[in-house]
Amino acid sequence: QKVLELVRGLDLTADTQKKIRDVFESEMELGLAKNPPVASSLQMENTFLPELCDGSEEGDYLSLDLGGTNFRVIWLRIKSGAVVSEAVQYYQVPEDVRLGPGVKLFDFLAECIHNFMDGRQLKGQNLPLGFTFSFPMTQQGLDVGILVSWTKSFNCSGVVGEDAVKMLNDAIHRRGDTDVDVIAVLNDTTGTLVQGAFVDRKCAIGLILGTGSNACYIERADRIEKWEGEHKDVKEVVIDVEWGAFGDNGVLDFIKTEYDKEVDRNSLLVGSFTFEKHFGGKYLGEIVRCVLVRLTKEGLLFQSNASEELLQHGAFTTRFVSLIEEDNVNGVDVNTTGALNELKLAFNKEDIEIVKYICWLVSDRAAILVSICTASLLERMDRPETTVAIDGSLFKHHPRLKSFMEKYIAAMAPANKFQLMLAEDGSGKGAGLIAAIASRLKKQQA
Ligand code: BG6
Ligand code: GLC
Repeated sequence: QKVLELVRGLDLTADTQKKIRDVFESEMELGLAKNPPVASSLQMENTFLPELCDGSEEGDYLSLDLGGTNFRVIWLRIKSGAVVSEAVQYYQVPEDVRLGPGVKLFDFLAECIHNFMDGRQLKGQNLPLGFTFSFPMTQQGLDVGILVSWTKSFNCSGVVGEDAVKMLNDAIHRRGDTDVDVIAVLNDTTGTLVQGAFVDRKCAIGLILGTGSNACYIERADRIEKWEGEHKDVKEVVIDVEWGAFGDNGVLDFIKTEYDKEVDRNSLLVGSFTFEKHFGGKYLGEIVRCVLVRLTKEGLLFQSNASEELLQHGAFTTRFVSLIEEDNVNGVDVNTTGALNELKLAFNKEDIEIVKYICWLVSDRAAILVSICTASLLERMDRPETTVAIDGSLFKHHPRLKSFMEKYIAAMAPANKFQLMLAEDGSGKGAGLIAAIASRLKKQQA
């Protein structure tokens, strides 16, 4: 009973869910408005994606993917619009690069491109490159992306307000030994949508449930009031919602529990992108940890003894949540006891049950929050059938987030048929495909 009382705020009632949805929908409208009476927390950004693949794309392309768990350089060979071969190399971005001066970050990226091309005899080929930069940008074209703010684990100085493509090109030129042409910059959601649409024509939403969370969708151009008079020839456009920042203006304060506030306080960029801190892979385990610490302090867990490990920020990883959820699915305790042992905790049967319950509760809330936003997009697009392409470590590794979402979205958007499709490495491949589309259009225009 006491446990339930302390976690009540994590359990979203039907009324609260309805309120979240209303606020989300009004924030979307404000984000698309020309002169909104109040600023929206949703950026609703034009991605300048000119079109999806038409099947005629050919050639060799590079893509660079920065912002998620794995930074990587990818070489794609595309024939008749399909990726026929792929070589990937992962690089570790050191902490001092993630948090240091921006010039150093872009020099590091240029060095990785050089290293990648050098190792594969690609030197001198002047390959077109698609750059997945998984951060909020203001785009002024397919190859201009001004960083709005850093999110997740990055915070380099001197980049906010600057064009990421220009900074990358400058770094490449500074080296003088690497021949690539950065022709497109994109968000990971956009790459995921392009890759998803390539596999399934019904795909109209690209969604990321990874370190952070966000989605893009296909919007009717005539509903984008802030475009009044511009882009007259365009009928539809891919909009990057940037829902990670939903509620940063205070409109969602009614759902924030003491645990969410604590997670935000201890995060790299306090008060920014607070919605994704409710469920992003970087934060989900930390929410559970904050709950467990509080319950322990209240004498409801581990005989009031929190281990030093449990008291450490980040010690209860999202991987633990997925593992414990696997126990919940299978009706066993093996992963839960493994996690608690790793955290050097002394526990009994009841502790195990409580930990399993908290992991379910936090996962369930994650699914509800993402489902509310997804259902809103589905109803807004109102297509006969929509495929949602999803990528990201949380979606891939959590054993039942997908089934929770299927259940909730179906209940929240009952008139809209949909399916959730894993688009693995969506944005890596999508960046190559977008580079190919951009090259094709360039050639057609020449
Ligand atoms: C992948 C992308 O598709 O999904 C990444 O290549 C992206 O750039 C990622 O950010 C999201 O997942 P995670 O878990 O790596 O943040
Ligand atoms: C963060 C970024 C956003 C990205 C998302 C998923 O929310 O701001 O651009 O799409 O993470 O990686």
